[in-house]
Amino acid sequence: MSLLLDEIALAAARLAEAGVESPRNDAEVIAARLHDVPRSELHLVPDAGFDPRFWDEVARREAREPLQHITGVAYFRYLELSVGPGVFVPRPETEVMTGWAIDALAAMDVAEPVVADLGTGSGAIALAIAQEAPRARVHAVEADPLAFEWASRNVARVAEAAPHTTGRVSLHAGDFGSALRELDGQVDLVVSNPPYIPLGASVAPEVGEYDPAAALWGGADGMDAVRVVEQTAARLLRPGGLVGVEHGAPQGAAVYWVFADAGWKDPRNHRDLAGRDRFVTAARP
Ligand SMILES: C[S@@+](CC[C@H](N)C(=O)[O-])C[C@H]1O[C@@H](n2cnc3c(N)ncnc32)[C@H](O)[C@@H]1O
Repeated sequence: MSLLLDEIALAAARLAEAGVESPRNDAEVIAARLHDVPRSELHLVPDAGFDPRFWDEVARREAREPLQHITGVAYFRYLELSVGPGVFVPRPETEVMTGWAIDALAAMDVAEPVVADLGTGSGAIALAIAQEAPRARVHAVEADPLAFEWASRNVARVAEAAPHTTGRVSLHAGDFGSALRELDGQVDLVVSNPPYIPLGASVAPEVGEYDPAAALWGGADGMDAVRVVEQTAARLLRPGGLVGVEHGAPQGAAVYWVFADAGWKDPRNHRDLAGRDRFVTAARP
């Protein structure tokens, strides 16, 4: 055993005790990033190379600060995004809805489809679509000034790394209820992961204390922002255009009926990788 592997084992036990969901993983990710080695090479770090800041970062995770805030990085589909205080950490559930959007764009007979991402946060959905559906032009809307700054940073970083993708993401500061009026009736696909947690619901410390409130709470039934997304999508989409909206696992029926009652075509529930209801799609009549 090496010193670093011993320290990782101790750290994992401390994180488990603190209620962290994936303690071993998190200890290894912290160690790998700090020592600048892949996880598969942690055992090769010489004892003399052990960086004692490891324990500062483990203490932060023990206090339930999100792993992505400690490392500064969130992985989303094929992207490495910068995240930290003031922006929602993108989740794996959202990768599934983003995959639906990318597939739907590929199947559309439109040369340069126009996409709107309502509530873009870090820019995760918008940038993934720009990367994987390179013919699309993506308009990403965000109201929270801090989140908007993170999105701007990510758009600039991805643009630098892969200039052919990010010319196609335009960021718009403002409320998605009234945004993008110049595109009314011209958008091919609207996608949104809005705030949808009912007020008063209990959430993990990583969420309640670190994700911004504007990214989480959706009013008494959690549906306030979903209703606004439905109305905005009805305004933005051309006839036959598609919408996809993420929601909490227990909200599948409620979100389905928001679209069905408003006369949308073919509303459908979709599940995430854990088999839970996670997003609804529909077509504008
Ligand atoms: C759950 S987060 C999703 C962020 C990102 N799309 C993702 O999936 O990781 C919701 C985002 O919507 C933004 N938001 C909430 N209400 C909004 C509104 N009315 N107009 C614009 N943005 C809004 C929040 O600030 C937050 O960044």
